[in-house]
Amino acid sequence: MKGFADYVKTIEALVDRVAHEPASSALSGQVTAALDGQPGAELRRAVDLQSRRARGAFFTSAAMAKRALRPGFLSFNEDSIIVDPTCGAGDLLLACASQLPEVHDFASTVTLWSGQLYGRDLYNEFAQAAKMRLALAAWQRCPGRLEVPLSRAALFPGITAGCGFASVDMIRKATHIVLNPPYSTMDAPEDCQWGSGRVSMAACFLNYCVTNASVGTRIVAILPEVLRSGERYRRWRAWVEQRTCVEHVGLLGQFDRWTDIDVFALELRIAAPSGNRRARWIYPRRLSTATVADYFLVSVGAVVPFRHAQSGPRLRYIHPRLLPPWGTDAGANEYRRFAGTTYEPPFVVVRRTSRRGDRHRAIGTIVTGKGPVAVENHLLVLRPKDRTIRRCQQLLSVLRSPRTDKWFDQRLRCRHLTVVAMTELPWWEDAG
Ligand SMILES: C[S@@+](CC[C@H](N)C(=O)[O-])C[C@H]1O[C@@H](n2cnc3c(N)ncnc32)[C@H](O)[C@@H]1O
Repeated sequence: MKGFADYVKTIEALVDRVAHEPASSALSGQVTAALDGQPGAELRRAVDLQSRRARGAFFTSAAMAKRALRPGFLSFNEDSIIVDPTCGAGDLLLACASQLPEVHDFASTVTLWSGQLYGRDLYNEFAQAAKMRLALAAWQRCPGRLEVPLSRAALFPGITAGCGFASVDMIRKATHIVLNPPYSTMDAPEDCQWGSGRVSMAACFLNYCVTNASVGTRIVAILPEVLRSGERYRRWRAWVEQRTCVEHVGLLGQFDRWTDIDVFALELRIAAPSGNRRARWIYPRRLSTATVADYFLVSVGAVVPFRHAQSGPRLRYIHPRLLPPWGTDAGANEYRRFAGTTYEPPFVVVRRTSRRGDRHRAIGTIVTGKGPVAVENHLLVLRPKDRTIRRCQQLLSVLRSPRTDKWFDQRLRCRHLTVVAMTELPWWEDAG
């Protein structure tokens, strides 16, 4: 963190300058740079990816914060108390500050915001960067020199270094909580009601906020996609739904161009124990009573061409390039030797590569013929439990349905189909 600590010194120096020098376009330019993206870039330069992952340190860009923190939901006033328990270099607090009501001058803006903005981060360098950047944002709002010498140590006393899991008092008094927690894993707390073993730290942070926040508090969290759509977090979602009004779930896409993880924004309001609950997860509910798993066994093709040696019996071999989309593959025009798992036709194969927005998310081909078939691992294999071609044809109709494309667009943000998602796909009764 040494490199980042050096960077913090440069923004401390910039705060000293804006407080005591006349406003100028040169100063403005430096302040603008410090407020958008610069700490993230400095962190990437100073700390390697592995260490950043271990710390869960990925700062939110101004553009992402703007998309996640919708003013209509947050609606701050002069009594709002805004808390970020894992504040990093303060990017979410900065986005909130930009929505706070008008103020008169630099000094009174800092005083007012100091009473409204609270944060904590495990690393002192980040907490210090957050304070300095908020001071720069206050100056940007109302540029002008201070009449008295600046005491940097007195700026934003509510932003401190420490563990966000030890901030009950701060969370209890919050009217608004903004959160982009680390996405790493941790041991589930002893009293965890929705998971055990290693669980998402982001899920635990959200739970900590929900457990300790007061009724009426609004929470906006940027969270990894797995919490919205992962099978493993179904109970976590139910836990959240029982205690809050889920006001909105917004898909945000990839976190940023350096961090290949899809995220979503979750807007919650803490509800009274007897209050009305509302849950608006964009998570496909079961629209039919049956799913693909009721009729098919789903697995991934076993052949990894560059890993598996050409040994074992000579077999008919299928891979995506060979197969007619939506057709039937009856003939054998490629063979290879393979000693692993094979499949007896009839069955359906589906290309695993599949992106959100593709015209068809799950393109299938029926495989017929006699004898065991070796299947490449870019294909899902769906074997009909009744072993009939008719069932395979019905499956192609289900896969071709526009409802299937929409369902996968909501269910999966990763770029390949998974066995679990395929087994959960509703069996649209009228599609077959
Ligand atoms: C994904 S970053 C987000 C930072 C900031 N909220 C933002 O949106 O830019 C998560 C932050 O959590 C901090 N962190 C990790 N463990 C923490 C803990 N136990 N308590 C408080 N902060 C923690 C990291 O140092 C990191 O700055």
